[in-house]
Amino acid sequence: MFMKWVYANLVILLLIILNVSEICEGGITSSFSRKSNDLSIDMPLDSDVFQVPPGYNAPQQVHITQGDHIGRAVIVSWTTPDEPGSNTVTYWAENSTEKKLAEGIVLTYKFVNYTSGYIHHCTIPGLEFDTKYYYEVGSGNPLRQFWFLTPPEPGPDVPYTFGLIGDLGQTHDSNRTVTHYELNPMKGKTLLFVGDLSYADNYPNNDNARWDTWGRFIERNAAYQPWIWSAGNHEIDFLPKVGETIPFKPYTYRFPTPYQASHSTAPYWYSIKRASAHIIVMASYSAFGKYTPQYKWLMDELPKVNRTETPWLVVVMHCPMYSSYVHHYMEGETMRVLYEPYFVKYKVDVIFAGHVHAYERSERISNIAYNISNGVCGPVSDQSAPVYITIGDGGNLEGLVYEMTQPQPEYSAYREASFGHGIFDIKNRSHAYFGWHRNQDGYAVEADSLWLHNRYWHPIQEEASVASM
Ligand SMILES: *[C@@H]1O[C@H](CO)[C@@H](O)[C@H](O)[C@H]1NC(C)=O
Ligand SMILES: *[C@@H]1O[C@H](CO)[C@@H](O)[C@H](O)[C@H]1NC(C)=O
Ligand SMILES: *[C@@H]1O[C@H](CO)[C@@H](O)[C@H](O)[C@H]1NC(C)=O
Ligand SMILES: *[C@@H]1O[C@H](CO)[C@@H](O)[C@H](O)[C@H]1NC(C)=O
Ligand SMILES: *[C@@H]1O[C@H](CO)[C@@H](O)[C@H](O)[C@H]1NC(C)=O
Ligand SMILES: *[C@@H]1O[C@H](CO)[C@@H](O)[C@H](O)[C@H]1NC(C)=O
Ligand SMILES: [Fe+2]
Repeated sequence: MFMKWVYANLVILLLIILNVSEICEGGITSSFSRKSNDLSIDMPLDSDVFQVPPGYNAPQQVHITQGDHIGRAVIVSWTTPDEPGSNTVTYWAENSTEKKLAEGIVLTYKFVNYTSGYIHHCTIPGLEFDTKYYYEVGSGNPLRQFWFLTPPEPGPDVPYTFGLIGDLGQTHDSNRTVTHYELNPMKGKTLLFVGDLSYADNYPNNDNARWDTWGRFIERNAAYQPWIWSAGNHEIDFLPKVGETIPFKPYTYRFPTPYQASHSTAPYWYSIKRASAHIIVMASYSAFGKYTPQYKWLMDELPKVNRTETPWLVVVMHCPMYSSYVHHYMEGETMRVLYEPYFVKYKVDVIFAGHVHAYERSERISNIAYNISNGVCGPVSDQSAPVYITIGDGGNLEGLVYEMTQPQPEYSAYREASFGHGIFDIKNRSHAYFGWHRNQDGYAVEADSLWLHNRYWHPIQEEASVASM
């Protein structure tokens, strides 16, 4: 622990000495620029990461997510290619000899001329907190075994570490991002995925075989720790010209969420509690205007968040409400105008988004004074406001976005077009640490970082960004 501290401080010192950044009107625009080719190439179909596990009808694309509201259930999903096979998950606690069974469901779907494999989803209920479980899927031979750790019981001072990845795709850069996340010594225990998963829709007829390759690619991490899903624009898969008129079809079949446990009426917006965090997932591409189901759900949800039990209130959405990059500029504006007053009122600690293929962190600011008769507008410093973090830099085939609005707006604290991932490390009810890791650096190096003081319990204290001092 102490050595980790020393090391983290050394890294920070180095960053200050190296001064990789130039100061603009606002915060920092990093001058770091990627050496490699900027177009990211998808890994070829015969890559190791896409390999089909050996054996007849072997389960593949295994991934897990939280299965209830508090962390005592897990949804296990997998696909069998040849026949439905078994719907059963066998599971047992690390030190128990008693094996238990849970029964799931199996689904298939068609998309243009593609027919899916047999997609299984099985909820394992009634798990103990803070326990390692092994689980097996498949029938007979081959049986595949994995494991996961349940979170500690929700409580105010429970430390917990979340990873953040967005806009991942399946390029060589995507593989680097996942590898850096796996080897990061801060060890994320649960991944908050900020949307745009496979990028299958960049292929003719949104070639759903690329959903399968993506499922096999992420298995090495997503079978062992929950990935908490939010839907991006690349999940819409709306292709009316060829008869595909149900939005989010492949995503919905493949990536279930525990939405009913938070009284949501659709899988795209929901909440979970995990350790000391209450996480709200919003759907940027589902109706969210006033009186829509999503709006009504959020209005119900926000007052229910118990900051005594879960001090950290985190919102995840795909399209950022604040971004100073030129690409996708102001696409999140309608969501911001409607929802920002509530996120400030309820003292959301941090809002994570993707969509823009780069990294950016905001100051604590709000822009909620404006109404069409007073003309007051513009972001102002606001210690009740969330920090906005754009982490759409997972590494998909569309590449990075380099063009930024100039000068850097006051609200933008740090921005850089590099691939990477984030870590949100909750220490206790007052302190959490955020670090952004770019793929070019060593696994332990942070290019940007921030100590966050909880907005509910410590609303006055200003935060110092360690890297931008
Ligand atoms: C992806 O990354 C893993 C882990 O670093 C490595 O073993 C594998 O060879 C990589 N695959 C490709 C296609 O780059
Ligand atoms: C379970 O077993 C592991 C390894 O054998 C051991 O390290 C751990 O302390 C045990 N946990 C409990 C709760 O008994
Ligand atoms: C679907 O159609 C496309 C274009 O005609 C073709 O390239 C592809 O191989 C077909 N896929 C399947 C699974 O039949
Ligand atoms: C909030 O959580 C605390 C701690 O778990 C609990 O004592 C309290 O009753 C909860 N408040 C409400 C309104 O549920
Ligand atoms: C608009 O803003 C002005 C000044 O802040 C305020 O007095 C007025 O009540 C606001 N109007 C509405 C409809 O909220
Ligand atoms: C919370 O964590 C921070 C950072 O590790 C530490 O400085 C602080 O003393 C802790 N507060 C309590 C009450 O333990
Ligand atoms: Fe996107």
